[in-house]
Amino acid sequence: MKICVLPGDGIGPEIMAEAVRVLQSLDLKFEMEEAHLGGCAVDATGEPYPEATQRLAQAADAVLLGAVGGPQWDTLPREQRPERGLLGIRKQLGLFANLRPAILYPELANASTLKPEVVAGLDILIVRELTGDIYFGQPRGIEMRDVDGQKQRYGFNTMHYTESEIRRILRVAFEAARKRNKKLCSVDKMNVLETTQLWRDVAIETAPEYPDVELSHMLVDNAAMQLVRNPKQFDVMVTGNMFGDILSDEASMLTGSIGMLPSASLDANNKGLYEPSHGSAPDIAGKGIANPLATILSAAMMLRYTFAQEEAAQRIERAVKKVLAQGYRTGDIFEAGTQKVGTKAMGDAVLAAL
Ligand code: IPM
Ligand code: MG
Repeated sequence: MKICVLPGDGIGPEIMAEAVRVLQSLDLKFEMEEAHLGGCAVDATGEPYPEATQRLAQAADAVLLGAVGGPQWDTLPREQRPERGLLGIRKQLGLFANLRPAILYPELANASTLKPEVVAGLDILIVRELTGDIYFGQPRGIEMRDVDGQKQRYGFNTMHYTESEIRRILRVAFEAARKRNKKLCSVDKMNVLETTQLWRDVAIETAPEYPDVELSHMLVDNAAMQLVRNPKQFDVMVTGNMFGDILSDEASMLTGSIGMLPSASLDANNKGLYEPSHGSAPDIAGKGIANPLATILSAAMMLRYTFAQEEAAQRIERAVKKVLAQGYRTGDIFEAGTQKVGTKAMGDAVLAAL
């Protein structure tokens, strides 16, 4: 079980340290090697996804990532931005299937900005296509053009999908729905965009392979609205890269705590990159107060999907539920009557629960 560990930027190293401690406490043998990705890699080598990291990531069975990015790299040319490192590793490793669960832990019901009855028991899974769409479309750029008789800057990106790209992510979503409540909602914008008309056509064509799953379709603007109106109508949602980016942030905040949510990005053979859904939180970096639970839960997803260690994955998830029940809270999920702890103390609590 070879893991490439990429702590990244901001709070990344702090939260990763806790996830690594949790993994090391298990009765399993891992080989872990650490490397740079994102801003720290730019500082060390000038590249957000340097050669050495590429070699380690390609040789590993799984990649565990903290977070990348920060204001100090915001003025770099686009190709050197930390985010490019993340997009680069996703593309290079063929990690087309991004699984983003949004689960409301009962102990955190008050953390949501929505009424408790709207979100109580919430458990949805967003399946986001991760290596196509407008994110990777050519041509793209900003250039000077003559438009409407005026020389002006012109920005352009290209949205595109092949039917095989759509079919393979739909199959991942159908399979996931099959293991859950057997409801799949495919999200598109077919009333305006041809690319997503194709998305809907392929979804309809794929459905007969999964007669036990109920497929529905929703336009993305309506889906965004329905997610706050009545999120519990959803079981699994599947959508393209860009809509999935937006809807998964929205869904995460239904739970009140993006600091709790893990994610998995998988290739066709269960190799995966696992990372918290949240970012590098530069404002609290280095203070020892960030919530490590999303990274710890990402490690659990890694055990489940890449290493088929379901038992160990569930042990970690039970330990996280237990520390919440015991009242431990980092600042992002703190409320009166609970016990505020820092990153390391939260890691200690999870280890003790394990
Ligand atoms: C995400 C992030 C990334 C994305 C950025 C950092 C490139 O927002 O993982 O959702 O847009 O995919
Ligand atoms: Mg995002």
